[in-house]
Amino acid sequence: MASHWQRAWITGASMGIGREMALLLAEKKVHVALSARSKDKLNAMAQNSDRLSAFPLDVTDRAAVGATVGQIEQDVGPLDLAILNAGILEFVELDNFDASIFEQAMRVNYLGVIYALEALLPRMIERGAGHIVLIGSVSGYRGMPKAAAYGPTKAALINLAESLKLDAEPYGIKISIVNPGYVDTPMTEKNDFEMPFIISAEKAARKIISGLERDKFEIAFPVRLVRPMRMLRRLPDGLFFWIVRRFIAKMWEAPPEQK
Ligand SMILES: NC(=O)c1ccc[n+]([C@@H]2O[C@H](COP(=O)([O-])OP(=O)(O)OC[C@H]3O[C@@H](n4cnc5c(N)ncnc54)[C@H](OP(=O)(O)O)[C@@H]3O)[C@@H](O)[C@H]2O)c1
Repeated sequence: MASHWQRAWITGASMGIGREMALLLAEKKVHVALSARSKDKLNAMAQNSDRLSAFPLDVTDRAAVGATVGQIEQDVGPLDLAILNAGILEFVELDNFDASIFEQAMRVNYLGVIYALEALLPRMIERGAGHIVLIGSVSGYRGMPKAAAYGPTKAALINLAESLKLDAEPYGIKISIVNPGYVDTPMTEKNDFEMPFIISAEKAARKIISGLERDKFEIAFPVRLVRPMRMLRRLPDGLFFWIVRRFIAKMWEAPPEQK
């Protein structure tokens, strides 16, 4: 089925969820500009479809982000969809606390999005149209064990999306936030704990694109994980910490086969 978008930009498109979203949008006849640092991977994707074009980019480079958005609009045309998906995950051990992990997480996951917004918003405001999508995570709902560097970047994106939605509406710009649970990608491959209700990157991409086609503000999945995570958000602190200690923190203590 063809889509109502004509031109999209996806950051973090070289693998995982970003790659699957790009392939799915191309199938739906959308021209997709692909960004990530791995030029070879992007070029290989672009060689297989004339609806995919590679625009290699490190999202932590503010000037390069601005220049790339300009280049994409010049080569491909005005963007009507931007999926700001590039992200990194590193777990934190308190006995090996290293601020550089936090800095890098904020640079890629949060400031990378801000730089993209700086480049996209004036263009979309001028056209009075556009859809910008931030990729958060259910781990942004509340603080989780070992996620002290990653979780706050996703919590920030959730709050940012709410704020932007209100400010962008009068300009005709749509904002969405995607909060996935566990998805099987290179990011989660290294996890040595059980990941409940994990789904494939292809399935995640289908859920995201179908939610965006229906103009949803928040797209969160899978429902079996999202429902309890949303409930944790509403619990008083005492009960929240008890549940996390009793059920979630335990997942980290033993490798998957012992659980
Ligand atoms: N997998 C999950 O379970 C899960 C759950 C919730 C949320 N998410 C979020 O979903 C998004 C995609 O995750 P994923 O699982 O698909 O991860 P992934 O497989 O590790 O892919 C991450 C993508 O981001 C790109 N990237 C990383 N640093 C970058 C940088 N500085 N500049 C430009 N691109 C950069 C990577 O490409 P290069 O290395 O080539 O730059 C890659 O294309 C992330 O925001 C992640 O936090 C994932």
